[in-house]
Amino acid sequence: MGTRHPYPPGKGAPNGIVMHVLSSISTTTVQAVYAGAEGRLWELAMGEQIHIGGLASSLDLATRAGIAAGATGVDLCSCTGAGCRFLVKLRGVARMTGVDMTPEMLALGRQRDVRDGVSGRIAHLQAQVTGTGLPSAGFDFCWGEDAWCYVTDKPALAREAARLVRSGGTVAFTDWVEGPTGLSAAEAQRFMAFMKFPSFPSISEWRDMLGTAGLKVELAEDTGRFSPHVDLYLGMLGGQLGYDALRTLGFDQAMLQAVAGEMVFVRDLAKAGKLVQAIFVARKP
Ligand SMILES: C[S@@+](CC[C@H](N)C(=O)[O-])C[C@H]1O[C@@H](n2cnc3c(N)ncnc32)[C@H](O)[C@@H]1O
Repeated sequence: MGTRHPYPPGKGAPNGIVMHVLSSISTTTVQAVYAGAEGRLWELAMGEQIHIGGLASSLDLATRAGIAAGATGVDLCSCTGAGCRFLVKLRGVARMTGVDMTPEMLALGRQRDVRDGVSGRIAHLQAQVTGTGLPSAGFDFCWGEDAWCYVTDKPALAREAARLVRSGGTVAFTDWVEGPTGLSAAEAQRFMAFMKFPSFPSISEWRDMLGTAGLKVELAEDTGRFSPHVDLYLGMLGGQLGYDALRTLGFDQAMLQAVAGEMVFVRDLAKAGKLVQAIFVARKP
């Protein structure tokens, strides 16, 4: 149910962390989204970088996290590796490893690396981000963009991010989180079922998880980008990209209307301060 539970449900609550949990969403549910029409619809609305704010958000995250030219990084939930290509091409990062569980996204990512002439500097690994198997302290920074919301066991994800970076290294990510007004149980259930989010914390709950994982949180705040961007996507899908959206959904007009209705619901939650995109920067001591 989309109610607030100690997390992980039934396994005790590290540091008393509590967040919205929707137990019906599994990793298979999320993989099906990204391997199918829903994932293609998100890319149509948002572009190759499937996160709120696109390039501006990536530049902001890289700048505020102090990502340096020549560094090496790991992108957790990398999808097709748009974040890896951004960091290598536009920020002078030496090498990136993208980790994602959906094979279709990794295959597309490898093709796009060749297209953009960066295949020698990016590796794509199929794994769960809660246990990547990558070496400890093997990276200068860990990166994520609007994707950790899909991961069930967020405390385990925070621990894995902390494990992967060297001492003095950085964990930098943006994510969809609960806003200051808070979601009711019914709102959380409807929103998480539409988005396929298995658990959904607030900024302060993320702070606690990062702290418990041994990281020092330097920045954790609302970016203010959420609702204006959802307005933008609604305008594009309802107008200029309407035909493309219909084609993506197999010309199912009722389905497109239903998706647009849920996006309006999401936008209205954001306008009421119940959902935000947040930016986090934490260091490993
Ligand atoms: C919104 S997309 C990521 C977008 C990407 N960060 C960008 O900015 O373009 C979410 C991705 O997370 C991946 N994902 C979700 N849960 C995962 C998990 N537990 N382990 C690995 N990958 C996961 C999905 O396969 C999907 O490709």
